[in-house]
Amino acid sequence: MRARRSCLAVPGSNPRMLDKARTLPADHVFLDLEDAVAPLAKEGARANVVAALREGGWDGKTRAVRVNDLSTPWTYRDVIEIVEGAGDHVDCLVLPKVRDAGQVIWVDTLLTQIEKTLGLPIGGIGLELQIETAGGLVEVDAIAAASERADALVFGPADFMASLNMPSLAVGELSPDYPGDPFHYVLMRLLVAARSHDLQAIDGPYLQIHDVAGFTASARRSAALGFDGKWVLHPGQIEAANEVYSPSAEAFDRAELILDAYEHATSEAGGALGAVMLGDEMIDEASRKLAQVIAAKGRAAGLRRATASPPPPARG
Ligand code: GLV
Ligand code: MG
Repeated sequence: MRARRSCLAVPGSNPRMLDKARTLPADHVFLDLEDAVAPLAKEGARANVVAALREGGWDGKTRAVRVNDLSTPWTYRDVIEIVEGAGDHVDCLVLPKVRDAGQVIWVDTLLTQIEKTLGLPIGGIGLELQIETAGGLVEVDAIAAASERADALVFGPADFMASLNMPSLAVGELSPDYPGDPFHYVLMRLLVAARSHDLQAIDGPYLQIHDVAGFTASARRSAALGFDGKWVLHPGQIEAANEVYSPSAEAFDRAELILDAYEHATSEAGGALGAVMLGDEMIDEASRKLAQVIAAKGRAAGLRRATASPPPPARG
């Protein structure tokens, strides 16, 4: 799985921002042809995005392009021009406002035809599917299952709030009038659908770009559920995202310790035990699975153990 802790939105109509994005420490960039680009600038944006991808310099980053949604006249030309122009420089397409599985299959088929024509690896270009309408959420399981190309489900809070008629302009924010998190259901629904199809789950944007504390609080809510990352709209949000979606050094060390201790406990030398005490905590196979999640996120984030596991107790 590619790292997607911070997914940087870059308007395809802005060559200066396209240049700058290369230098920023985001795990993932998506060059946008959709809502950050005005209708009159759509065609020019395609050419900018192709040029930016071909110029390179994106080393280590996942390179995505967000095409327009299927209710517009632009999607087919977006896909054709981007993939014909820079198909070997793009890791995935982001499909916004996905309504049902049929839309995903349509893009998958078009991609396969272009890949065949160009001699690119079939299925090499992945898909990130934005869930940002009531209808998309109702269909989320079928959408997640629709294509082998799918890498991630992505929440789109701004469009989702509009789709639900939520009476708020504060995108992704808690409401003083609601005693809980108004986004809990959609985040959890999307996460369950993503995990049941081995996909990543990515949270959407936080629009108050200078309020890093607000961004961090919003990111912590989805990270606490298990989300893998969040969109960032401004360089100032990148570091916060990378930190929030990585485990703390303490949690990482503890997870590695549990893995070592449990591996030893279940081995012949450790007595082939299924449940053992580690300090004050009883650990078993389910603890190993949980620890594996934290350890994998930590290793992907480049964390190193600060403390080694103590040697296993001598037996006999
Ligand atoms: C993102 O696309 C959103 O609508 O929030
Ligand atoms: Mg949107």
